[in-house]
Amino acid sequence: MSQSLVPTLSPMALDMNPDWWKTAVVYQIYPRSFADANGDTIGDLAGLTSRVPYLAALGVDAVWLSPFYPSALADGGYDVDDYRDVDPKIGTLAEFDAMTAALHAAGIRLVVDIVPNHSSDRHPWFREALAAAPDSPARDRYIFRDGRGEHGELPPTDFRATFGGPAWTRVADGQWYFHLFAIEQPDFNWDNPEVRADFLTTLRFWADRGVDGFRVDVADGLFKRLPGPGSDYTGDPWTPRDELDRRLDEVYAGWRAVFDEYDPPRCAVGEVWAEPIERRLRFARPDNLGQAFNFDLLRANFRASEFRAIVNRNLVAAAAVGASQTWVLSNHDVVRHATRYGLPLTRPAAPNEFPPPTVVREVEWLKSGGVEPVEDVTLGLSRAKAATAFLLGLPGAAYLYQGEELGLREVADLDAADRQDPTFFRSDGDEIGRDGCRVPLPWTPEGPSFGFGPAGAHLPQPAWFAGYAASVEAADPGSALTLYRELMSRRKQLLTSADSGLTWLDAPDGVLGYARGGGWQVWTNFGDLPAPLPAGEILVATSPVDGTLPPATTVWLHA
Ligand code: GLC
Ligand code: CA
Repeated sequence: MSQSLVPTLSPMALDMNPDWWKTAVVYQIYPRSFADANGDTIGDLAGLTSRVPYLAALGVDAVWLSPFYPSALADGGYDVDDYRDVDPKIGTLAEFDAMTAALHAAGIRLVVDIVPNHSSDRHPWFREALAAAPDSPARDRYIFRDGRGEHGELPPTDFRATFGGPAWTRVADGQWYFHLFAIEQPDFNWDNPEVRADFLTTLRFWADRGVDGFRVDVADGLFKRLPGPGSDYTGDPWTPRDELDRRLDEVYAGWRAVFDEYDPPRCAVGEVWAEPIERRLRFARPDNLGQAFNFDLLRANFRASEFRAIVNRNLVAAAAVGASQTWVLSNHDVVRHATRYGLPLTRPAAPNEFPPPTVVREVEWLKSGGVEPVEDVTLGLSRAKAATAFLLGLPGAAYLYQGEELGLREVADLDAADRQDPTFFRSDGDEIGRDGCRVPLPWTPEGPSFGFGPAGAHLPQPAWFAGYAASVEAADPGSALTLYRELMSRRKQLLTSADSGLTWLDAPDGVLGYARGGGWQVWTNFGDLPAPLPAGEILVATSPVDGTLPPATTVWLHA
């Protein structure tokens, strides 16, 4: 393993503001589906590096790279064999360094995914644990327990794994190990000092290589209450929540100390699906991870009242703990928002309702193979553009997911034989899973994989991808890609250094308008009828405006 360190950055290219992440537009790359350089049908780091000019033209401030570590891909790379290496199927550490250097030279920061809740079952520590005796130090790095029942034949608790099936799997000597997700993803024991120390080593390993920040997978889930030595507790693993969260605070305070060893300090964003909002923001405090994903908009209907309530609630709650804001409409775990907005609206979610009605509707649609309810493709895309423009005007950081800038919608009609997501297999097909947003990107209208690589793609691409290819859209002034480029370059000009809050403007029903510093206004028509066009110089419009603000349209204007 090479020890070469490549963080010598050109100060010309990178914005040296240590708070860059608070207002950044971060573009998520799912590396195996982004660009394939060597023609083995799997996206790789060399492919990504070759596309840095595309990212620069798009105008994003940072890339969040989903796991690229050695992995058998039992869960798309979120099953990590080695936290301090690159999967040989997609590159080498030298290629990682070259990619980092290319991104930095283009003024783009790099955030990598850290997966602390679980390793893969091929991690050397888990192999060692399997070979070791019950109650050995090697087993203590994970969560091994004896089973219940006369011969330990019953799992220690009835808790179910997130991907379906029991959360416990039995090993040859009769003990059981705990996994919140797939069988191949054994959970670490975060009370074990070696586990804690090893993650600090991993953070430093990547920070030393020039990585600017970390996205923390399942950030709120590391501690669980399980039956253990001296306890026969078999109830809900998430109680008492506050005590578990206090232990997490302590872990992340240690991480924060590592981040602060660097200049500028490394940043972090936690994946926290938890409600209520106050609990999520616990992880976004400046002395904790600093940021946590806000998934509220990703579960909302395209409706003015829902968007406004979500924005208000988040601005108030984040300000109360001194956290910066994040906004998300899509990622590698959810149905693409161009599809979400093309499905009929549902009732709004009740407070803390899970799953929210929007998600129930998406699941129904996926199960029907994308047939029922009927997707209105044109409306979905217009609304997606309008929602993105609404979001990119808000104070805080925005996280985009690869392909949304092309207006891609969910691929719903993949064959069962082609599916890869463990949620599909572990639920016996009852849940369709997340492959439909992970189909390799179209770069050109022709070619064996629409320019994704010189050969095919590891998930089949639909014929309609041809019309959404990056090269086609780059040449089309009305495309989603052109719009995203305009939004990002305008945003850079309009953001004032203070990134002050927003002021809502008087607007007719179904329309939201807000003002930012310096005369910048954002207006979105969420309704079905044209609304009056507010006065001012139009800077960007998500669809052609002709004296009115058309339905499903956002404009940025200078008042
Ligand atoms: C996170 C990831 C998801 C993964 C899971 C288990 O939710 O975003 O893709 O399956 O964690 O690591
Ligand atoms: Ca490849």
